[in-house]
Amino acid sequence: MNGNASRTPILVDCDTGIDDSLALLYALASPECELVAVTCTAGNVDARQVAENTRALLELAGRPNVEVAIGRETPLARALVTTPETHGPRGIGHAELPPATMPLSPRYGPDLIVEEARRRPGELTLVTLAPLTNVALAVLREPELPRLLRRLVIMGGSYRSAGNTAPTTEWNVSVDPESAKIVFEAFGPGSAERSAAAAGPAEPARPIALGLDVTEKARMLPEHLAALAARAGCAPDGRRPDGTVNPIVRYLADALRFYMEFHSRHDGFYGAFIHDPLALAAALDPTLVRTEAVTVDIELGGRLTTGETVTDWRRVWGRAPNVDVAVEADSARFMAQFIERVGDLAAAPR
Ligand code: RIB
Ligand code: CA
Repeated sequence: MNGNASRTPILVDCDTGIDDSLALLYALASPECELVAVTCTAGNVDARQVAENTRALLELAGRPNVEVAIGRETPLARALVTTPETHGPRGIGHAELPPATMPLSPRYGPDLIVEEARRRPGELTLVTLAPLTNVALAVLREPELPRLLRRLVIMGGSYRSAGNTAPTTEWNVSVDPESAKIVFEAFGPGSAERSAAAAGPAEPARPIALGLDVTEKARMLPEHLAALAARAGCAPDGRRPDGTVNPIVRYLADALRFYMEFHSRHDGFYGAFIHDPLALAAALDPTLVRTEAVTVDIELGGRLTTGETVTDWRRVWGRAPNVDVAVEADSARFMAQFIERVGDLAAAPR
């Protein structure tokens, strides 16, 4: 890869979180990825802890120069619910990271998204790994955002599979369904009135949405971590033959041990759905997923289903499709790439 010319500029919005941190490592380990900036929102843990985790992780990977901004700290219209039982009280499982020393950006997350999209019209792919609060605020500030971005890739929703939060709801959408509704409508066809001088295509590319239908096929097992550690020249717990410790592998081992214990209790296997890295990988290489264009709307008034990504597979609504929903993923190729790239990142001296 030579410089920025052939790299994909990526903005990440996250709620770091264990799988969010794996997605960030994958981004840093991918030569075709230009990680432009990271914005933080509340979800797995509160937004300030997310910002701390994100900066500490970037410093662990030797990248303290990536701008990290905090966004809104509560969902748009309801109280914040976090999930310490899934990601641990601080969001990184059993892992310990040195306190972040890199500064938090002075920019507000939604403003950063809008400003970077305006600065590089048509170039940026925004990858969301969290509740859509920051993206909703960004598109309310800049209705042209869908046309200023090259693409929006969402980890969120469950389009024809069981939910992981309520029977029909997925976590990122369920934390802030009002924001999800704003985003799914704003990025849909024929949304905001276009100003005559507006830049970009008349109709933006539909977002790619990776829901649980495909992300629960991305299962990281102990043998995957062992293969990654071996590539990095250490044991699965990070110990090297000379007795020193590989810090990235140690982080992965401690964070994933908590996550795998959770999945063992709740999903019947000792491993981990690594939702977010699959979404990030698909943003870099859309051939990893097969998508179908469908119309999706978000339930806001359900007694049992608020936050459901209601998907019109039979086109009974007669509304134009607004999302490219991933229906298949090449999870084997993704996992092999994850092991290779993050293993090599961990092996690199820093
Ligand atoms: O439902 C999975 C999503 O919720 C992932 O982004 C995970 O990090 C949690 O935020
Ligand atoms: Ca996440």
